[in-house]
Amino acid sequence: MKRTHFAVVAAGLGLALSLSACGSDDGSDTAGDNDAKIEGKIGVILPDTESSVRWESADRPALKAAFEAAGVEHTIQNAEGDAEKMAQIADSMIADGVTVLAIVNLDSASGAAIQEKAKAQGVATIDYDRLTLEGSAEYYVSFDNTVVGELQGQGLADCLGEKDANIIYLNGSPTDNNATLFSAGAHSVLDKITSYKKVGEQAVPEWDNEEAAVIFQQLYTQADGKVDGVLAANDGLGGAVISILEGNGLAGKVPVTGQDATVEGLQNILAGTQCMSIYKSATLEANALAEAAIALASGKDAETTGTTKDSESGREVPSILLEPKAITKDNVGDVIDDGGQKLADVCTADFADACKAAGLS
Ligand code: BGC
Repeated sequence: MKRTHFAVVAAGLGLALSLSACGSDDGSDTAGDNDAKIEGKIGVILPDTESSVRWESADRPALKAAFEAAGVEHTIQNAEGDAEKMAQIADSMIADGVTVLAIVNLDSASGAAIQEKAKAQGVATIDYDRLTLEGSAEYYVSFDNTVVGELQGQGLADCLGEKDANIIYLNGSPTDNNATLFSAGAHSVLDKITSYKKVGEQAVPEWDNEEAAVIFQQLYTQADGKVDGVLAANDGLGGAVISILEGNGLAGKVPVTGQDATVEGLQNILAGTQCMSIYKSATLEANALAEAAIALASGKDAETTGTTKDSESGREVPSILLEPKAITKDNVGDVIDDGGQKLADVCTADFADACKAAGLS
């Protein structure tokens, strides 16, 4: 019975076959049985509104749509960069009857504490996007973040071409396991290219964009302005770098990477000041989370793509990892076609010419 309900839910979500727990694509499920319901309520806590616009502008609506399509009760809140607040939200969600709790941790220690407390109260947890080191989440739902870093490294190499080049690395928050993976992935590509030289590298606490500009200015000065390329871990950090390059008359001359395919990132790519971004469909990630959460709430196993080793505890965490996609001027349209951004938001009056040149209209 539960299996049928899950199949209905999965069909409603339009989940990819590879992610479907029932593994059936013959359409014979009892689709249309809208009475399917699961027990309990699913809670999601997003991390902040500053480290990336994605959490409120992409993830929240995608999660809401995924849960609504599945007809499950849900609550989505944002910790606004405050780990204590995240713990309080978790407590109140559990008191409110949430039976599955997904978090995007602000750091592994606070995330692990939330998960421990939830577990003690019989509440299952899921790591959404960021793995909680030494945590106890049942599932980890994300993109392959090492591949994200590799695509960023390759994207920068493609923009730089074969030449001697000084590179500055601006990494994400030191408390975000993803930032470690992005950096490792990027280095695995760029360190092999012997004509490239690292002339500076620093992590940006909490992915703070303003601090990123200050840090980049320092690294740029330390390198005597001899910088040919910048590996910036996401579009927000990339934007901060571009603002400093602009002040030095170098915007558009020094390739800068990014991630999240934000409106600003895509506009920078179209304008030629940013070399690439990474598109990670919020719809796919939210659907994968909804599927895992619904499976847990129904006492079922979710279909995984493999396991991810927690580098601290050594635990193999059952994972659903999706494929990220590199975005350059040539395929900005793919993000729009996929519903990742709206044409009208990207192609505003200031970018009308650039959009036209890129075949976007
Ligand atoms: C996410 C990125 C995001 C960054 C800052 C990372 O964990 O994977 O998509 O840009 O956090 O919020």
